[in-house]
Order: sequence, then C-alpha cells, then structure tokens
Amino acid sequence: MEEKKDQRDQWEKAYRNNEDFFGEEPSELALSVIGTLEEEGAKSILEMGCGQGRDTFFFARKGFDVHALDYSAEGIERIRAKAEEDGLELGLAVHDVRDPLPFPDESFDAVYSHMLLTMELTEEEIGYVLQECLRVLRPGGLNIYSVRNDHDPHYGQFLHVGEDMYQNPMGFVVHFFPEEKVRRLSEGYLLEGIKEFEDTSPPFVKKLYEVVLRKPER
Ligand SMILES: C[S@@+](CC[C@H](N)C(=O)[O-])C[C@H]1O[C@@H](n2cnc3c(N)ncnc32)[C@H](O)[C@@H]1O
Repeated sequence: MEEKKDQRDQWEKAYRNNEDFFGEEPSELALSVIGTLEEEGAKSILEMGCGQGRDTFFFARKGFDVHALDYSAEGIERIRAKAEEDGLELGLAVHDVRDPLPFPDESFDAVYSHMLLTMELTEEEIGYVLQECLRVLRPGGLNIYSVRNDHDPHYGQFLHVGEDMYQNPMGFVVHFFPEEKVRRLSEGYLLEGIKEFEDTSPPFVKKLYEVVLRKPER
C-alpha cells in the first residue's frame, strides 16, 4: 500500500483546472429524486459534497432553499461567483463533513449528497456523517445519497488503499459499497430504497446505489 495524496488538494487541483469538472447538467441522481422531494413538500435542502454545484443550481432554480457545503474552497468559490452572476441566494460553506455539521438540530427537510460518502472516508467516519445528518433533519425528513457500488467497473482495480477503497490513476480514492454496507449504515433511519443506476458524467461511466433514508417521526 503506497502513500495516498491528500484528497482535498486533489479536488482543489481538479476544480482549479476545470470550471465544470462533472459538467454543467444536473446529475442522474438529482433528476431521479427531484419528483420525490417535490411530492414530500420539502423546502430546505442541505447538499453535502456539492463540488462545483451542478446539482446545487438545479435545486435552487427549482425553488428549494439550498445550503451547500464542500471541503474544496475552489468548488465553493466557483458556486459563489456563479450564484452572484445569476442572482441566486444560496447558503455556502467550506466544511469537512468529518467535523460536526454547523447547523442546529432539525434544520432541514432533506439532506442530499451525490458521490460524497463514496470518497476517502472510513466506514466509521461515514457512520458519524450519517448520524450528524439525522440530527439536522426534521422528523420525517429524507436523507438521499449515492455511493459507487461493487458492480462498478473500477471496483477492485488499481491501488488498494483500505477496506473497499481503491485509488484510481487520476489519484482519487474511491470507497465502493456492497449493498450490505448500505444496510449496516442505515442505523436510526427507515431504509426506504436502494436502487442501482449509472452516472454518465465525465470522465467515465460509474455504477452507483441511490439510497433513500427517512428520519422516523417522533
Ligand atoms: C465525486 S465529487 C462529487 C461532486 C458533486 N456532488 C457532483 O456530483 O458534481 C465528491 C465531492 O466531495 C467532496 N469531499 C470529499 N471529501 C469530503 C469531506 N470530507 N468533506 C467535505 N467534502 C468532501 C470533494 O471535494 C468533491 O467535491
């Protein structure tokens, strides 16, 4: 096992070199869940690991009150500049999700993250993040996330750097999820769905699980 590069620097560099690393269009996950969020009557969304904001802008333009965070200052700065140009109001923060979420209990109707929990986070860290999400969600609120799964063409490829974690030739560490891991990590939530889908955004096709969790009503 070789030394890993710091992943935050890796994202800063990627976003500095490319204004739209994942493209400008909303992700397949955002398109898949927008109907559910609308039907649920959700108004406020916390988006974690928002990158350069392809989904942030999609939700904000649909009228949701969006708070978005990422540990990449480059990503957040890009969103801030674009939001100003478009006259959109967003809550933005540079924040590492391994630290406590900077919001009071029961602040949001929904929490959303596309391909964040599938980054270089241990299972223990992911468990912590999911419990923090539970705290900031209102009772009955949804936590919708996606993770790359063990059917992904990159699973088991390249450099093995930890349990279910592999570093690809671009230098990014990815944590791949067997279905069992999703179930294990749902503690405290009602698990409403696990569905496989593909993300076709550049630079390659990825296989993921869409996971829908609900905070139980009191
Ligand atoms: C695969 S990218 C997805 C970006 C965005 N959700 C999208 O689909 O366009 C993962 C994002 O998670 C962010 N990230 C990784 N680890 C993080 C952490 N510990 N805290 C906050 N953000 C993190 C990265 O900076 C990156 O923007």
